[in-house]
Parts: sequence; C-alpha cells; structure tokens
Amino acid sequence: MERVLITGGAGFIGSTVADRLLDDGIQVAILDDFRTGRREFIAGALERGADLFEGDILDRDLLAGAVAGCDTVFHLQANADVRHGLDHPQRDLHQNTIATSNVLEAMRAVGAKRICFSSTGSVYGEPEVFPTPEGAPFPVQTSLYAASKVAGEGLIGAYAHGYGFTGIIFRFVSLLGERYTHGHVIDFYRALKRDPSHLYVLGDGRQEKSYLYVQDCVEAMLTAAAHHGDEPGAHVYNLGTDATVVVDDSIAIITDRMGVTPAIEKEGGTRGWAGDSPLIHLDTTKIRSLGWSPTLTIPEAIERTLDWFETEPAIVLDQEPTTS
Ligand SMILES: NC(=O)c1ccc[n+]([C@@H]2O[C@H](COP(=O)([O-])OP(=O)(O)OC[C@H]3O[C@@H](n4cnc5c(N)ncnc54)[C@H](O)[C@@H]3O)[C@@H](O)[C@H]2O)c1
Repeated sequence: MERVLITGGAGFIGSTVADRLLDDGIQVAILDDFRTGRREFIAGALERGADLFEGDILDRDLLAGAVAGCDTVFHLQANADVRHGLDHPQRDLHQNTIATSNVLEAMRAVGAKRICFSSTGSVYGEPEVFPTPEGAPFPVQTSLYAASKVAGEGLIGAYAHGYGFTGIIFRFVSLLGERYTHGHVIDFYRALKRDPSHLYVLGDGRQEKSYLYVQDCVEAMLTAAAHHGDEPGAHVYNLGTDATVVVDDSIAIITDRMGVTPAIEKEGGTRGWAGDSPLIHLDTTKIRSLGWSPTLTIPEAIERTLDWFETEPAIVLDQEPTTS
C-alpha cells in the first residue's frame, strides 16, 4: 500500500485506521462529511499530511478526486445506525449499498483494485451455529443495515470475479475503545450522567454479544490485507473476540466504574429492538490462523472505552444518544 483512501475516515474506526496507516508511513486520503465523524478525530492525521476530501460520498466528482492516485480503499463510510433502519427504509440502500457501488466504480475508473470493506456480524441474521463461522448460511436478514452490507459484499465479490479486484471483507462484532461514539456503552454512560438513580434497558438485559477493541480490529484488518496482497478474489474474515458478555455484565462494569447504583428498569423481550440479534458470537479461527489475536478482553475494552469518555467529556456528552 502506498496511498490509501479511507471513506468515513473521520469516524470511530476510520480515524483509527488513518492514524495507524500514517504511523506505517503510508499516504492517506480521507473522505468524510462529518455527519457522525468528528474533526477532532482527524486533526492529528491532517497535521501529519493526510488529505481531506470533505463532502457526501454520493458526490461522484468528489469521490473520483479522492480515489485518484490511491491503490487501496478502506471503505468504512456507512450509515451505522442499525436500530432506526426501519424508520428510513431506503437510507441503508443509498448510504451503504449504492455508496459501495460508487466506490467500486470510482476505483475501476482509476485502476485501483484493492478494497477493505467493513461489513458486519449482523449479516448472519439469527444463525444456528455458535460461534458462527464465515461459511455459515445466512438466508434471512433481520435488519436493513445488514441487508445493505450483504449487498455490498456481493458487489465486491462480483468486482473481484469480473474485474480481478482484491476484496477483503470484514464481518465485525461491535467495537469498543477510543473515539467510540455509538452503541450501548455510551448510551448507558450518558443516561447515567443525566440521572445516576435510574437506568432504562432495552430488552431483558440477557442479550449476549461479542465485542472487539478498535485497535485490535485495525491490526486484524492490516494483517489480512498484508496476507492477501494483490491476490484477486473476495476474502471474508470474521473479526471478534472468543468471548461474549451479556448486557447485564456491561451494566455492572459501567455502574461500578461510575460509582452509581441505579434502579434498573427493563423493557423486556429477548431483543433490544426489532432486528437486534439476541446472540452474536463469531468464530474467529480464520483470522487467528494468520497469527492475529486480540490484546484486550471485552471487560478491558469496556474499561478502555470508559477511560476515553473521561478524557473527552465535551465529545462524549455533546451528542444526542444513538444506538447500534
Ligand atoms: N462500530 C461498530 O461496532 C461496527 C460494527 C460493525 C461494522 N461497522 C462498520 O464499520 C464502519 C465504520 O463504523 P464506525 O463505527 O466508525 O461509524 P462512524 O459513524 O463513526 O463512521 C462512519 C463515518 O462515515 C461518515 N459518513 C457517513 N455517511 C457519509 C456520507 N454519505 N458521505 C461522507 N461521509 C459519510 C461519517 O461522518 C463517519 O465519519 C461502518 O461501515 C460500519 O457499518 C461498525
């Protein structure tokens, strides 16, 4: 990799990728319109020479300018608001599927053939096998977000097959760590800052998920990218830890750390919302076979996230709550 375009490069994961690539001496271009990303997250990267292409990824001229001169794209831009997908039935189609198609076309126009794509463990819907391997069937989608990511994976596979692209597709569990701005840990933290005496929990608190520390995720992506080089094809990797926690465990870590003992009110039901998966636990044997392993456990990653909240109150308490 010599020059890399990071779409969504001002977001939680994208900005972390940007910093890491710059550390490795790689030139970086960032495309973002800051709808959920933050200028603070890329201030350091811009100082170190990253180029910013500011605007909507659906602006084809902007995208063409951003991809020019790049050999690789980390396509991390997306609408990552899973929970409210049904309120905007075509948002995931436009922001995720069509945006991915546009990225592939922009790459094809300039001869860039390597794409690293942030898909999601949600593509498995409600699988029957746990931990779920990459080869598990996923005939039924349970969210518009995951459906749009399946479509993105399909497009990348077709470009790999038809145009010789190298597509590296990562199905992440939920991530935690510095610059985390959406998900249940920040929702609970903000709610408890507002009212430490009461916490409302979607679902029954028994939803069980796996989480991964963002720096471990970035290391895994770079490990797979280095492994495949320019090898044509679509290469799919689950990224996660081998453990899971239930929502109640997360709440205990957060409330202990904040020193609060709220009355906990649960909405009930096995899901946090329509389309929420009650259990996500991915088989990560394939990425581990490349020599990668996570450095933080899930409780450590939650603690690391809370550390970051305390250093950045202006960012953390500034935004309206969202959940994904
Ligand atoms: N965070 C997770 O737990 C998680 C889990 C699975 C998959 N993913 C995927 O990883 C990727 C990055 O997620 P994240 O957590 O960093 O989210 P994020 O919201 O922090 O980052 C997305 C970035 O894309 C930008 N963006 C969105 N739409 C845009 C548009 N139309 N034009 C230009 N910029 C736009 C946003 O401003 C933001 O900076 C996404 O594709 C997401 O679906 C995230």
